[in-house]
Amino acid sequence: MSKFIEIKPELFEQSPFKLIGKDWMLITAERDGKVNTMTASWGGFGVMWGVNVAYIGIRPQRYTKEFVDNSETFSLTFLDNSFKTTLSYLGSKSGRDEDKIKKSKLTILHTDDTPYFEEATTAMLCKKLYAQELKPECFIMSELNEKWYPNVDYHTLYIAEITKILVKE
Ligand SMILES: Cc1cc2nc3c(=O)[nH]c(=O)nc-3n(C[C@H](O)[C@H](O)[C@H](O)COP(=O)(O)O)c2cc1C
Repeated sequence: MSKFIEIKPELFEQSPFKLIGKDWMLITAERDGKVNTMTASWGGFGVMWGVNVAYIGIRPQRYTKEFVDNSETFSLTFLDNSFKTTLSYLGSKSGRDEDKIKKSKLTILHTDDTPYFEEATTAMLCKKLYAQELKPECFIMSELNEKWYPNVDYHTLYIAEITKILVKE
């Protein structure tokens, strides 16, 4: 079985545009011993407040939001392309309606009390620093507001410290 090793953020060389935007990721968090996960293709990595951070956006109706809001941490899991069908499934059904993780056959691991998946090529453990719901009046380009929020379901933007980057050996 492959093991994960921790690498320093400055040695992480993969493109976030490909990794997040094209290959997609899982946002996973735990609440009261229960884990939920969802697929995401919006977000990024960088530096804020002198801290290595990831940012993600979660719409209010996602069950995963309840888990992220009720936990100090969450993870970002990246899987290879053989899991694309799994990612489509986890991004189209809700954990409110079925046991998505069991059905997806992914294996939950924990490091520092944060859940992620053994099948990952890379997992980032994240500690929440900041959360804010996007506001219509803050859009400089109002077309984005009209295009993405006809249902007024504004994403909450989370900025989180990347506390560990784990990659498969
Ligand atoms: C490729 C892809 C990308 C997605 N990206 C996001 C995202 O960045 N933010 C979000 O709120 N939902 C996103 N979704 C939708 C959620 O993954 C989807 O609604 C999921 O079923 C929520 O599951 P949950 O209710 O168990 O949390 C995406 C879905 C797909 C298929």
